[in-house]
Amino acid sequence: TLPIILDMDPGIDDAAAIAIAVNNPDFEVRLLTSVAGNVSVDKTTTNELKLLEFFERTDIPVAMGAKQPLKKAYQDAANIHGVSGMEGYDFPPVTTPVDQRDAVSAMVDVLTAAAAPMTIVATGSYTNIANLLTQHPEVKVKIDRFVLMGGSISGGNVSSVAEFNVFTDPDAAKIVFEAGVPIVMIGLDVTLKALISPAAMAKLATLNASGKMLSSLLHSYQDEEAGGKPMHDVNTLFYLLHPEKFTLERYQIDVVTEGPAIGATVADTQNRWSNGRTNADVAVAVDAGYFENWFLASVAKMR
Ligand code: BDR
Ligand code: CA
Repeated sequence: TLPIILDMDPGIDDAAAIAIAVNNPDFEVRLLTSVAGNVSVDKTTTNELKLLEFFERTDIPVAMGAKQPLKKAYQDAANIHGVSGMEGYDFPPVTTPVDQRDAVSAMVDVLTAAAAPMTIVATGSYTNIANLLTQHPEVKVKIDRFVLMGGSISGGNVSSVAEFNVFTDPDAAKIVFEAGVPIVMIGLDVTLKALISPAAMAKLATLNASGKMLSSLLHSYQDEEAGGKPMHDVNTLFYLLHPEKFTLERYQIDVVTEGPAIGATVADTQNRWSNGRTNADVAVAVDAGYFENWFLASVAKMR
């Protein structure tokens, strides 16, 4: 089992990622933190608690993170995920309390207590992990790697160059990419290809209570590619379980923090400016057919 920390902004694809993470015995989720992103941090925190209650995993602590990006004005993505961030399914009101620690303090505690350096999966903006790195550089050695959903080296989804998570807090992203901690960047280059087709969504609904819940959320999810709905955040966990289904290329990534290209993740694909330095393994291809089958099979094992 792989011990992990999840830092998220659910968000419908985040919800699907949480479903995978808390139900798969190959993962030991030691902490779930929230950040402002798809919707406000109050809502993303509540959504995390809703999901843990649904899956009867309230043993996992949920700690609330940043209310807003480091410098940039906050803009949500309620147009994609709905007003609550998880429109489409009626969860009962939450009764589980949020952890008393803020996200950064809780991360420090979990990392410090860990016997070995841990993997941190981040699928929202990177405000919390940037704060962790700048406020607690001493725990860097306890981070094995960041597996990030975000960025793109082939075009954006909020502008022609920027992906939502990086665009939401580019200053945080820059800190994370420059921290010297190993990074796997799972960006739009692959996540726009890992789709759940309408046929797979119909199948999901017939599987079990979890499949019904996820398919209801997916029906209201407004992100759509030709052939289905992109399951961005789920790719991080798919990568951890099946790295052989991805092609990675190693690059130096620079994050643009101002101007019209704000939020872009620029890769030095031809070694023109990075002087041979590299800071990220960038996913450039994924076995999308395998992904869809794996997702259905994973949900089939849920309650
Ligand atoms: C990312 O933006 C969010 O809306 C999704 O949850 C995903 O993390 C895709 O660009
Ligand atoms: Ca997300």
